[in-house]
Amino acid sequence: MGKILVTGATGNVGRHVVSRLAKAGLDVRAFARRPEKVQAGVETVQGDLTVPESLEPALKDVESVFLLWPEFNVGNAGEVVEAIARHARRVVYLSAHVPGGENTHYAAIERLIRRTPLKWTFLRPGGFAANTLVWAEQIRRGVVRWPFGQASRALIHERDIASVAVHVLTSAGHSGAAYALTGPAELTQIEQVRVIGEVIGREVRWEEQPPAEAREQLMEAWGDAAFVEQALTAWGSFVDAPERATDTVQRLLGRPALTFRQWAEDHAADFR
Ligand SMILES: NC(=O)c1ccc[n+]([C@@H]2O[C@H](COP(=O)([O-])OP(=O)(O)OC[C@H]3O[C@@H](n4cnc5c(N)ncnc54)[C@H](OP(=O)(O)O)[C@@H]3O)[C@@H](O)[C@H]2O)c1
Repeated sequence: MGKILVTGATGNVGRHVVSRLAKAGLDVRAFARRPEKVQAGVETVQGDLTVPESLEPALKDVESVFLLWPEFNVGNAGEVVEAIARHARRVVYLSAHVPGGENTHYAAIERLIRRTPLKWTFLRPGGFAANTLVWAEQIRRGVVRWPFGQASRALIHERDIASVAVHVLTSAGHSGAAYALTGPAELTQIEQVRVIGEVIGREVRWEEQPPAEAREQLMEAWGDAAFVEQALTAWGSFVDAPERATDTVQRLLGRPALTFRQWAEDHAADFR
């Protein structure tokens, strides 16, 4: 099997993709802005995806690429995809499952990839369990004040996304497939907070935050009105139209997807 380049190699998903490929003895190269953050012993090329020229040296002799796009707009993803197509044969793109998401940057990047001769596979996860780390500070204080307590999602463990990525990168039959990936079950945000509280052994209360107050806070944190609006609309939509669990992880890996409780156990220290 040829060389595999992993972008986002220090992130939630990419770091597990790197460690699994390396453990399996495969020829893996990491691409990172800060190589010192990459697992020791793994070949690493330093660069920045928003500077496409910096990707060129990393693509030398590469057969497959695990690609994530770190920005919330297409930016220069077109140049990055072209560079990958000049060197590699296959790309596994970490996209997203967004209901009605034809106008998202994820869909736009998928279209860019489809136009190349690359063999592609799209991983389309729904919400990451890791998104709940945003509550860590509030959980330590015992009260989570947040909007849309009844919003329900089938959050996925980042290790499952990485396992699927490794499976797709190392086995045949996934070319032209788009996989909708979720955890095994839907949980409301109130239930997610309860599970985290149980795992860390302390009572955590949910306090419903009016969306207008959340908007103000998120604006302070993110400073991008359109992005805040998009996030609030998406979260609110999961109250009436919960994100449904898929069986894709089970079908691909032959074992059930990891539960939210397992994720919380793996991350208990982050909430203590
Ligand atoms: N959160 C969700 O619910 C959700 C759902 C569906 C899809 N997604 C998508 O999944 C991806 C996030 O995956 P993740 O959680 O593993 O990400 P993450 O933990 O935020 O890590 C991002 C990775 O990208 C690297 N990176 C950031 N900017 C870069 C740049 N300009 N050039 C090169 N590398 C850069 C980071 O490296 P540094 O160490 O240098 O920062 C890090 O390794 C995103 O594309 C996101 O849109 C997320």
